[in-house]
Amino acid sequence: MNPLTTDTVEAAAGQSVQNLSIQEKASLLSGRDFWSTAPVPGVPSIVMVDGPHGVRRQEGTADNLGFHASLPSTCFPPGTALGSSWDPELVEEVGRALGREARALSVNVLLGPAINIKRSPLCGRNFEYLSEDPLVTGILGAAYVRGVQTQGVGTSVKHFAANNQETDRMRVSSDVDERTLREIYFPAFERVVRDSDPATVMCSYNRINGTYASENRWLLTDILRTEWGFDGAVVSDWGAVSNRAAALEAGLDLEMPGTDGATVTEVISAVEDGTLDARLVDASAARIAALQRRTALDDGPAVFDAGEHHALARRAAAASIVLLRNENNTLPLRHGITVAVLGEFAEQPRYQGGGSSHVNATHVDVPLEELRRALGEDRVLYAPGFGSSREASSSALLRAEAVDLARHADVSIVFVGLEEKEESEGFDRAHLDLPEDHVALIHAVAEVSNRTVVVLSNGGVVTLEPWHDDVDAIVEGWALGQAGGGAIADILTGRTNPSGRLAESIPFRLNDTASFINFPGEAGHVRYGEGVLVGYRYHETVNVPARYAFGHGLSYTTFSYSDLTALTVGDDEASVQVTVTNTGEHAGADVIQIYVGAPERPVRTPVRELRAFRKVTLEPGESRTLTLDLDRRAFAYYDVTDHRWAVTPGRYSIELGRSSHDIAARTTISIHGDAGRPSPLSLTSTVEEWFTHPIVGPLLIEGITASLTEEQRHAAEGMQDGLKMAYSMPMNQFAKFPGVSIPLESLHQLIEASKEPSFQ
Ligand code: BGC
Repeated sequence: MNPLTTDTVEAAAGQSVQNLSIQEKASLLSGRDFWSTAPVPGVPSIVMVDGPHGVRRQEGTADNLGFHASLPSTCFPPGTALGSSWDPELVEEVGRALGREARALSVNVLLGPAINIKRSPLCGRNFEYLSEDPLVTGILGAAYVRGVQTQGVGTSVKHFAANNQETDRMRVSSDVDERTLREIYFPAFERVVRDSDPATVMCSYNRINGTYASENRWLLTDILRTEWGFDGAVVSDWGAVSNRAAALEAGLDLEMPGTDGATVTEVISAVEDGTLDARLVDASAARIAALQRRTALDDGPAVFDAGEHHALARRAAAASIVLLRNENNTLPLRHGITVAVLGEFAEQPRYQGGGSSHVNATHVDVPLEELRRALGEDRVLYAPGFGSSREASSSALLRAEAVDLARHADVSIVFVGLEEKEESEGFDRAHLDLPEDHVALIHAVAEVSNRTVVVLSNGGVVTLEPWHDDVDAIVEGWALGQAGGGAIADILTGRTNPSGRLAESIPFRLNDTASFINFPGEAGHVRYGEGVLVGYRYHETVNVPARYAFGHGLSYTTFSYSDLTALTVGDDEASVQVTVTNTGEHAGADVIQIYVGAPERPVRTPVRELRAFRKVTLEPGESRTLTLDLDRRAFAYYDVTDHRWAVTPGRYSIELGRSSHDIAARTTISIHGDAGRPSPLSLTSTVEEWFTHPIVGPLLIEGITASLTEEQRHAAEGMQDGLKMAYSMPMNQFAKFPGVSIPLESLHQLIEASKEPSFQ
């Protein structure tokens, strides 16, 4: 079935665009300007703006890289933070608030969520992305879309696909094998499309295995529409279309921004000279008309309560902070102590990244002020310690002033991280280091301080070496959005118990990361040579330790686990139960992480993969028994030969992890999987695959032996081992060998037999 002529689209097309001229239909397919579509009779214009963690509605000069001002809106925690919350309900709530703000600013489609996988910690847009893991990304991405779309505002799931770096992003070819695409880079998109019905999907700038995403029919039509059932509109990333007609044929409906009519003319000419099928124009025009109807802001503009949204941004930021280290219970800060707050980031917080997602916040919390409010003015000393705006020569003086305060305080809190100019859309980082004067400040303070706490502000992860062991506590404060200052104070003072977990590994060194030798590529190509071994999948499988593993995060309370059990459901699903108890003295939230380890498979497989998770809040002493379901996909790998998900029969381990590295409990389970569901054979299947095939193997042996004399049969028995030597030969070669001679016709009959419906 050609999805471009499905009943739904045709019906919509019939209704809305049948009376339009080709000029009008073509003009629906290219933006009117930077942020809106062209109106035609019966189909008003719609507005689409960034996204993802705030609404960047520009009124004056427009641009897609955040240079020009936009109207104030709440800067919620960017993806890097929200990903670490591991909390889909919270993300959905943030989505609802974003939807309300979009309505209030007359925005029909919000350009988010950004759900590319963090392949390398260097990627300049990691601050916008959620995780290195497809399950965390997919579940949180789907929650975001659900939340925004409850308000009648559309979303744009981006950037589809394999857009995992900024270097040469508008031309580079991401060279990725199909299994890796299916298992790592596609699943989040697939989940969001299947579970949350996003209004649009945004295709990425890059090429995939040589073909631009915008011109990739396999990607935009075969996978997205036919396999996953997407029936919304495909929008280009801003400026991602190089050949408009080819993009339309591939399934790209709307080109953004507009080109002042140039591509409208191109489309019309292509239809007129017969190189472009007019029905494709009809189908895409109908989808844009459907998008307009779906996202029309009919009931007038809504209003939003900036104060309420700020409070939500603070709660979300606090839930996203990850407490990495807390020696001797340095945190939470005890009342009555004197605290030295050091580092300019305490006064000028770093709370978002640069580029198209840059939001004009309604209000920004300052960590220093929030700490003073929480602990008392007279309890908090402050020195900037370093200064982006100050002379380099004054660095030593600034540091000396900070050290002096550190000597007189009970605890020093050092605010360091990356400046906004260091992480942005459009370029990647070159290393994982903190600025030198930040590291120098940490060292100098740690040397004299009773207790040292480091609070990090960064979009992508930074290395914690070589100062890690010299400090008592480390708070990973990401880019937390406009209320991050309040959220940091909440965590440091214990008003909120930390519950964030790393959604990406923090390596010791850049050299320890999976993509190290293949990032960002060369000569226009980036080879995803690590395959499926991305992030923790690599660290755990290859046994290269990370400083902090994926899933790690401390709390001010403790949790224990008991009675981990797993039961199979049917052939290839399971249900996992575990009881979790808050064994400490504070209420707090834990994240139950279930990893699956597969038996030996015909493909290289990570030692464990996250297959389910749940965040749960418990009072001190409270226990809860949770059930987490594992579907067939949790046990499957993508078989590129047979073009399907395959489940190897055998024993799988079900592991409950405090992180991907720290396994607290483990059980095993027997999965029947595809036993007795052999792959269909082809002429190029190997001799082994033919002879061991449960249906065809016996038929083949029977056929061969039937044609032999008694004497030949005896000889053949002795030749079993010889056959093994031929096991790797493709059958079409083997069948022609002298003395074998299996007729082609018989092979074709057997191929049909291998496809027996009961075995599909
Ligand atoms: C970015 C997109 C963004 C678009 C519109 C592009 O440069 O890659 O994420 O939505 O601009 O601003």
